[in-house]
Amino acid sequence: MKPILVVYGTTEGHTRKIGEFLTERLRAAGKEVDLIDSATPQAKEVPLVYAGAFILGSVHFDRHQSALVHFVKENLGWLNAIPTAFFSVNLNMTHRDPEARAEAQKCLDGFLEETGLKPYMARLVAGALKYTQYDYFKRALLRYLVRPGGVEASATPDVEYTDWEEVGRFVDEYLEATQSPGR
Ligand SMILES: Cc1cc2nc3c(=O)[nH]c(=O)nc-3n(C[C@H](O)[C@H](O)[C@H](O)COP(=O)(O)O)c2cc1C
Repeated sequence: MKPILVVYGTTEGHTRKIGEFLTERLRAAGKEVDLIDSATPQAKEVPLVYAGAFILGSVHFDRHQSALVHFVKENLGWLNAIPTAFFSVNLNMTHRDPEARAEAQKCLDGFLEETGLKPYMARLVAGALKYTQYDYFKRALLRYLVRPGGVEASATPDVEYTDWEEVGRFVDEYLEATQSPGR
């Protein structure tokens, strides 16, 4: 059985946590999994042995991590030849306003357009606010940039908006759809 690759881009660490969650879920389903940070040297020497891949990145100023963009562009040929799932982690998802959600979808679509990735499935995932990790400037920026659920950003502690059950269901959905003898 060939392994599954989970590769992520992260800026404050939350997408790594989602990558670790996916990895555990896949291993619990009997899969062999390699978890790789797209910004490490390991990402430059990925063997072409995978049956499938999960690609995860978070949005900062409407863009995903450039290391992840680079990774996908460099490996596009084989990635588009196997079933891939792309998860775009963001906070626009947490707004009730449909326009904010449309923004989130635009960022996801922009990543696919820029890289040429043709994922088997692509999903928006709500991320986290990590005030304790932000410097003064990031805090100030976020107050204007993201106001999840209309909450005044600067007044809240760290908050995780990720629906872990939903992320788990995405994995199950992927596994069900890609399950076939020999895969
Ligand atoms: C400086 C900064 C800029 C951000 N810009 C956006 C944005 O443009 N759109 C959005 O939906 N979320 C934005 N976010 C929210 C992040 O996508 C969210 O916090 C995510 O969980 C970060 O994941 P990470 O810890 O893996 O980097 C921003 C967060 C920070 C700190």
